Amino acid sequence: MEFEIVIKNRRSVRLFEEREISDEVLLKMVEHASLAPSPGNLQPWEFIIVKNRDLIEKIVSTTYSGNVKTSSPQTWIKSASAVIVVCYIPRPVSARYGDEGRVPGLLGLGAAIENLLLSAVNMGLGACWVSGFRSDELSKVLGLPKGSEPISIIPVGYPKEIPEAPPKLPVDQITTFIK
Ligand SMILES: Cc1cc2nc3c(=O)[nH]c(=O)nc-3n(C[C@H](O)[C@H](O)[C@H](O)COP(=O)(O)O)c2cc1C
Repeated sequence: MEFEIVIKNRRSVRLFEEREISDEVLLKMVEHASLAPSPGNLQPWEFIIVKNRDLIEKIVSTTYSGNVKTSSPQTWIKSASAVIVVCYIPRPVSARYGDEGRVPGLLGLGAAIENLLLSAVNMGLGACWVSGFRSDELSKVLGLPKGSEPISIIPVGYPKEIPEAPPKLPVDQITTFIK
């Protein structure tokens, strides 16, 4: 798909068809994520692809809606065919850059996640970036080791409903040109 179309067609998709996604397609998404920039090219990330329905239910139980950590879970995630949990591996970053490295390290994860989302669009899939979850609970559900922090949940599937394009700020309003 043409880049301009991919980037303009990306939406936060929250309703999916009941249709399996092949492992190859999910691995292709991770391959695209792995090409993202990261500080010192340290690639401080791990992608956990979950297709198991029971585990997806447990992951959903760690989520919350809005800003309140005790509010109701984001049950719409259950319609996803797979869930990719993106984890931060802080050790290589802190070893090289100390505490200063954390923000750049997490920015690298953001870049990788955007690649995941665009890759999904390119293959006819939909996805959504989810950060409303209780991190400690999600770590327990996934049995993550101490050196791995879940940063985002990306539910993926074939879209059942593609939302209208939400309004974005005009380019001239968010740009300062210094010539
Ligand atoms: C870091 C981050 C966290 C987000 N967390 C959630 C979330 O927990 N649940 C959700 O439904 N959407 C979440 N979103 C999606 C936003 O709501 C969405 O990107 C925004 O409304 C703009 O819509 P668009 O993605 O279709 O352009 C998140 C987006 C970002 C970038």
